[in-house]
Amino acid sequence: MSFLTRLEFFAPCPRGLEGALATELRELSILASDPAFAVQAPTAGGVPFSGTWTTVFVANLYSRIANRILLKVVTQSYCDEHDIYALTHEQPWEQWFNASRTLRVDVTAIKSPLRSLEFTMLRIKDAICDRLRERTGSRPSIDTIEPDVRLKAFITATACTLYLDTSGRPLFKRGWRLDKGIAPLRENLAAGILRLSGWTSGQPLFDPMCGSGTFIAEAAQIALGIAPGLNRHFGFEKLLHYDLSAWKHMKAQALDAQHSSYSALSSTLLIYGGDISNKMLAKATANLRRAGLPMIPLQRCDARDIVAPCNHPGVLVINPPYGERLSVHHRRTRCCGNNIAAFKDVHSNDASSIFFRVFGDVLKQRFSGWQVFALSPNRGLPGQIRLRESTKTVLYNGALECRLFCFNLALS
Ligand SMILES: C[S@@+](CC[C@H](N)C(=O)[O-])C[C@H]1O[C@@H](n2cnc3c(N)ncnc32)[C@H](O)[C@@H]1O
Repeated sequence: MSFLTRLEFFAPCPRGLEGALATELRELSILASDPAFAVQAPTAGGVPFSGTWTTVFVANLYSRIANRILLKVVTQSYCDEHDIYALTHEQPWEQWFNASRTLRVDVTAIKSPLRSLEFTMLRIKDAICDRLRERTGSRPSIDTIEPDVRLKAFITATACTLYLDTSGRPLFKRGWRLDKGIAPLRENLAAGILRLSGWTSGQPLFDPMCGSGTFIAEAAQIALGIAPGLNRHFGFEKLLHYDLSAWKHMKAQALDAQHSSYSALSSTLLIYGGDISNKMLAKATANLRRAGLPMIPLQRCDARDIVAPCNHPGVLVINPPYGERLSVHHRRTRCCGNNIAAFKDVHSNDASSIFFRVFGDVLKQRFSGWQVFALSPNRGLPGQIRLRESTKTVLYNGALECRLFCFNLALS
């Protein structure tokens, strides 16, 4: 197989972000000036596209929204597990990786008549190991925790597709977010929300409930042109066609671009964060430092007391505490009789409604002209904030169905 062989891919992403991912991949195909890089219409859960090995490098290094970049090895119809063993065994795995690599196989099925996905996974694994033993004299070991090579099988009622995972660890694991709170957003969901919001780097961006700093770090990386994959390794590095010099060249280009935009733009960022918890602010600060970002103003604040951080209207983005996972903190300064922060957690729906009503009033009074984006599984949020949403988009935060509400605050 040559470096120019045409390959087919599928990039899964958080549900609800398929259109945003397709747009991102189209932009990457232009950046890569790779005529083979062609993006197809999104399907539920991701985007199919085609390209070459250059495409593998570009998509892994630069996609902020994809979960992974999967390289399609085969799609074939099947009736039972024997067919799946046979179609797996027919593939030239020895051309992709050698038997010294460790392997993990994952199976996902929709409407499949197969009785046991565990058994199907074992048949796929056996077929690969048998093929490699027959062709090379040795078979790979299995490692379910930190495998060198990950194989994904996607099985429908009639067809089985096998993919090699060129990413390895999921792409939202950028390598900088080691400090987390109770309910951090995945980095690619945050990046996708920023894209859906239409925020551009010349506009102010404010997250007053920033937690571990995911929106802020993703926004700053976008503004500074930092490639999200610069500080991590990828699954393709363990494959046989991996061209180290081409990959090093592409990474060096990304690093050069980062250095020049960093020196030109780092003092112009209009990105602000806050949180009621000092502990979360310390985590966010550590994360931003690890992400290689300049000092971004973070301040301790109660969302009910915030003021606009700059004179120009911009985008306020929040992922407020979810009833079932976190509680909204309420300050008790008045009853304490001083300004030393003392907090209690309020779990009741009533308390949450009161909190959001006050927060909504603050938005209306102090954020005229701003656009507010709130990600929440709470469908009653607009009623609680007492603002009518201009759009609402269904997005999944892992398995949790959420809405991204957009509120346009009138100019006063
Ligand atoms: C769901 S978490 C946000 C997670 C964040 N998007 C991330 O990726 O880490 C909600 C955050 O709101 C903060 N919070 C709760 N009540 C608050 C309040 N009244 N004012 C400001 N922040 C508050 C919590 O400390 C928590 O960090």
